[in-house]
Amino acid sequence: MQKVRKAVFPVAGLGTRFLPATKAIPKEMLTVVDRPVIQYVVDEAQEAGIDHLIFVTGRNKGVIEDYFDIQVELSNTLAERGKSVELKLLDELQPKPGTASFTRQQAPLGLGHAIWCARDLVGNEPFAILLPDMIMQAEKGCLAEMVALYEKTGGNVISVEQCAPEETHKYGIVGKGDAVGNGFKITSMVEKPAPEKAPSNYLISGRYILQPEIFDILATQERGAGNEIQLTDGMLKLAETQDFAAYPFTGRTFDCGSKEGFIEANVAFALWRPDIREKVIGNMEKLLKTVEPADNAVI
Ligand code: G1P
Repeated sequence: MQKVRKAVFPVAGLGTRFLPATKAIPKEMLTVVDRPVIQYVVDEAQEAGIDHLIFVTGRNKGVIEDYFDIQVELSNTLAERGKSVELKLLDELQPKPGTASFTRQQAPLGLGHAIWCARDLVGNEPFAILLPDMIMQAEKGCLAEMVALYEKTGGNVISVEQCAPEETHKYGIVGKGDAVGNGFKITSMVEKPAPEKAPSNYLISGRYILQPEIFDILATQERGAGNEIQLTDGMLKLAETQDFAAYPFTGRTFDCGSKEGFIEANVAFALWRPDIREKVIGNMEKLLKTVEPADNAVI
């Protein structure tokens, strides 16, 4: 079985839910505690053994490439000032030369199309996809758990979690079959179904391990939900000839594509960190007691 070495990060989205901030900053660069959202997702990939990062970007996303490059002047200044802790941090986060690739999705045609744009960079091997809107918090990362399941099942593996039945129209939803390892076999997939059409309440939560045959399917995939080329539709076709397993993630997931999810992620990752945890709890207790909704709040 071929090892999963490469991960694709589709980061071309416009981030309209975070305007005006995303007029000038990609949503993936918004900060959770002290690092951009994309860093959490890259950390999760690296923990799972990924050694090549592939970013599918778009216009106005150049700062993501800068972020993953060395900032020579900054490093020199930190060195001159004896800031060894900060230097070490930057060094640890720095992808090694030649291990980060960037390509552009030239038109916003959907997630399936974004993934297809990475076909030459991935080549003929199994690969991971991590949707950067979703950041996850767990002792062992979601993708690392999925790799462990994949090593037992082969084929394709998708992370899932349960949602309220009335929320199925926001996500890809899978049908639940027999248990396999610590997951289950997937019997069907549908993108953003109305509750009465949903095969279960297991939503696709944004982590995938897929076989490269998906690319040929995506090349001719017609538009689906939202008039976009959907990855879920492509996977459904691939499932006609290959197995798909679901890994039900048991940690916390934060949808950083929504304001509430993003704020929750900030709080959860602050509470996760011993260096600031107590102070944050104290400040939040004070705020919860004193801040009321304001008529002049900017919405
Ligand atoms: C995408 C996928 C969907 C998945 C979701 C998770 O949808 O198409 O299957 O459940 O991500 O966030 P999007 O959020 O891009 O509409």
